[in-house]
Amino acid sequence: MVIVGAQWGDEGKGKIVHFLSERAQDIVRYQGGNNAGHTVIHKKEKFALHLIPAGVLFPTKRGIIGNGVVVEPRGFLEEVNFLKSKGISLKGRLFLSLGAHVVLPHHLLLDAAHESESRPIGTTKKGIGPCYTDKAARCGVQLVDYLNKDMFPSLLDQALKRNAPEIEYCGGSVETLRKQSLEGQREFAEQLKAFCADTVDLVQTSLQKKRWVLFEGAQGIALDLDLGTYPFVTSSNTVAGGACAGAGVGPTQIEDVMGVTKAYVTRIGTGPFPTEMPTSVGDELREKGQEYGATTGRPRRIGWLDLVQLKRGIRMGGIKHLAMTKLDTLSDVDSLKVCVGYQYKGKTLKEYPLSFAVFETVEPVYREFPGFSGDLGVMRKWTQIPLNARKYVEWVEKYLETPISLVSVGREREATIVRDAASRWLN
Ligand code: IMP
Repeated sequence: MVIVGAQWGDEGKGKIVHFLSERAQDIVRYQGGNNAGHTVIHKKEKFALHLIPAGVLFPTKRGIIGNGVVVEPRGFLEEVNFLKSKGISLKGRLFLSLGAHVVLPHHLLLDAAHESESRPIGTTKKGIGPCYTDKAARCGVQLVDYLNKDMFPSLLDQALKRNAPEIEYCGGSVETLRKQSLEGQREFAEQLKAFCADTVDLVQTSLQKKRWVLFEGAQGIALDLDLGTYPFVTSSNTVAGGACAGAGVGPTQIEDVMGVTKAYVTRIGTGPFPTEMPTSVGDELREKGQEYGATTGRPRRIGWLDLVQLKRGIRMGGIKHLAMTKLDTLSDVDSLKVCVGYQYKGKTLKEYPLSFAVFETVEPVYREFPGFSGDLGVMRKWTQIPLNARKYVEWVEKYLETPISLVSVGREREATIVRDAASRWLN
């Protein structure tokens, strides 16, 4: 099964993956890097992870970081050491693909420099875009070569040579970056080696043995490089199909896809956001839902649930069912809105406009629902949820023609209501 974010990321995938991980055997990341961030509550303790799948918090589960991921060595090892300090041993159950590309110091420099240009994307400045750029330009460095001390310097020189004009334009020094990269390699390569493996073989063997493999998407469908709100996207394929190339599985091997959506929408970074709320309502929800980036701490932009976006995400993701998170955060909002179309030059668009210039100027068409109140965070059964909240979810589900199988009403794993008890994944 693939779990994907159905919006612009931060939908609460970490919590849902953690919830499902107890039933899975392998949890596999297939794209992105430590730009992702999720905070999960495990045995009443808070864990903020970026690269390592949260499933490894369960002692018998395997975490796999696939070839489609980009790995920043220092960040990865910091996470490993953090988990070690919490008594979580990852020996023999955390694997890094030898084919994954390495985020190098010049990627970090270039990402930060691009963000100071005239059209910033609002990236996490983790070097993700420039690392994928080198990968596509065929001058990136895969882990297999990073581990080889004889091979790495010449590959690094090739990458730096290609990037030299831009590095210098951005005020960087190729010589300093080279030194930093070589020092990093000397410091980290041996430690990384212990985790490196042919992860395609691991995943394929698991699938062959009918073990349950959970593919964990990072970011969200609307940030997909090909299908998202380009250019305000991340540099990888966040859609469920990304799992195929990013982990080495075929489309026929993916049995199910679950999309994760918030009961409203958030977006971090720049780019069009038609349903963005006025600050008076948005500010309140931001505080209530603690809507601050897990990686950068930036305040998230807040908007009403956008069903045009969600419908498109469901189709592109092949999403068979949804998990809706943070329903509790909407408690005490007088009136709830969902967007069912966009107005553009007097016409109602039912589909997503492909031009971002159009997307920037559309006006949402809303349907309103009466609000609800109560502390949903303590409720554990669907029948306990206030009637208006249930009606909201049920209407959305019907409109989207996609079951909302899980509803999350709090951070803890217990605060998850299973609505589709018949699903084999949820029992
Ligand atoms: P990058 O992935 O750091 O290159 O950033 C590209 C865009 O994706 C920016 O708008 C970021 O804010 C956004 N982004 C990247 N990672 C996440 C995430 O985990 N959650 C939400 N937005 C993200």
